[in-house]
Amino acid sequence: MHVRRKLVVGNWKMNGSLAQLAELAPIAAATRAASGVDVAICPPFTLIAPAVARSGGIPIGGQDCHHESAGAHTGNVSAGMLKEVGARLVVVGHSERRAEQGESDEIVRRKAEAALALGLQTIVCIGESETERAEGRALDCCSAQLGASIPELSGEAELVIAYEPIWAIGTGRVASCDDVREVHALIRRLLVERFGDAGRRVRILYGGSVRGDNAAELFAVDDVDGALVGGASLTAEGLVPIIEAAA
Ligand code: G3P
Repeated sequence: MHVRRKLVVGNWKMNGSLAQLAELAPIAAATRAASGVDVAICPPFTLIAPAVARSGGIPIGGQDCHHESAGAHTGNVSAGMLKEVGARLVVVGHSERRAEQGESDEIVRRKAEAALALGLQTIVCIGESETERAEGRALDCCSAQLGASIPELSGEAELVIAYEPIWAIGTGRVASCDDVREVHALIRRLLVERFGDAGRRVRILYGGSVRGDNAAELFAVDDVDGALVGGASLTAEGLVPIIEAAA
């Protein structure tokens, strides 16, 4: 039996400002008080360096990285650039990037490879659309995305999976515990089939309308090792109850 610490990651998406970094101090204080919970915040690229300076020890990360280390890729940022300014983790393959930037599973896998190779904790996102769930294809979709989006495990850097059903993101429609249990069990089985015992150590986060009032029941579901939180992570008032629920 592997004991996996709960992990709560705030994804600020394209939100936040220098002023909003004031939220980090109370989030850091709550993290220190919640023993056994890991917490990280992923602000927009421009806020990473100042966030690191004001993080109170919380790991700060990026919301994406390019799969190459440098070159003619206007507007992109490499894993090495994130690391240089103090990022310790990165989210790749978020459904918003898959949709808005047309990122394929293969590109997501290459981004994850690049980040892991530099020692960044790497959170790979997967999740079905509303149509795929309505048509009974949620498990097949997650299985295919997982298989093609994650790289082989190697080195010391930690791979984390985030299951984010697209229809639950920013909608207030959190997935039912039964649905979450079914998908997380599938992800765990596929990880163990592919990586053996190492697959039991990979943390699997749920994301999609996680709030202070639904976090505890989600965290009680088997194989839910934490949460990837959007809207509620923008303020300490929103995120601290989720951290406390994970403790
Ligand atoms: O990556 C986090 C996310 O997509 C969930 O967003 O606002 O539903 O918590 P939200």
